[in-house]
Amino acid sequence: MSYILQGNNEARRLDEQTTMDQFSLDHELKDIQLKNGSKVLDAGCGSGVLCRFIESKYPQTLISGCDLSIPSLEYAKKNQKLLQTTFFQQDFVNNPFDEKYDFIFNRLVAHHLNEEKLVKAFSHFYQALSHGGKVCIIDPDGLFLNLGTQNKELLKRMQMVKAAFDGDLNVARIIPSILKSVGFSNITWRTEVMDFQGEGRKLEAQQWKGRFENSLEFYIKLFGSEFSSRQFFKMYIDEVLSESVPLFYNKFIIHAEKN
Ligand SMILES: C[S@@+](CC[C@H](N)C(=O)[O-])C[C@H]1O[C@@H](n2cnc3c(N)ncnc32)[C@H](O)[C@@H]1O
Repeated sequence: MSYILQGNNEARRLDEQTTMDQFSLDHELKDIQLKNGSKVLDAGCGSGVLCRFIESKYPQTLISGCDLSIPSLEYAKKNQKLLQTTFFQQDFVNNPFDEKYDFIFNRLVAHHLNEEKLVKAFSHFYQALSHGGKVCIIDPDGLFLNLGTQNKELLKRMQMVKAAFDGDLNVARIIPSILKSVGFSNITWRTEVMDFQGEGRKLEAQQWKGRFENSLEFYIKLFGSEFSSRQFFKMYIDEVLSESVPLFYNKFIIHAEKN
């Protein structure tokens, strides 16, 4: 299974991303309560940033993180706070889990998958949860796409990116239905606008530089050369930095249970 964002710098980018107000874990997880002794999994843990957050807030839980990316898993292991936290490589779309968990988090991963892959992934989450177990899925709807540009050439190239991308940048809105279709109940969500203005706009432009750089191969395949890929990156980032061009994503924070 391939994943578009690669390399040794990706884990650091993910850590930086979570320092931004729009990606605040404190805010995203404000409704979460974890009982002492709970087994918690972060599926698609990346740099391990959510695992570290749980380690600090709930040191009496047993935390695991899994991901496809070896460099990110190594980074996560190097930075873990508690000895008992474990990390392992797993493609959770194509493989079921060996262990049972009380809580599964899946943050900022869903838009890299599509409806068909999410059905498989969420079925694996469902099977891996103990009775009464819970899942929390966090994903931005409209990432990359929700840029209010009138630049026709940029819009044309953005459509090419959307068509070539393996995931679905608007999938968050159908996650509650997918969860229901695989057996979850008590499905609730809240949505929040991630709006990038002022300093936040500059930080998100920096994030886009990192996202583009770490998926350069995908763009070279799409646009035919590094030169045209970089032309596209510049065009996109110039618009992100333009004061008159809104950039916003709708973040879904979704909870569901296995009963
Ligand atoms: C945008 S990152 C988010 C990482 C982390 N959850 C966070 O909040 O920063 C998405 C992560 O999902 C992982 N991923 C994507 N598809 C996966 C799959 N099928 N199985 C396991 N991990 C996957 C990627 O390797 C990447 O580290």
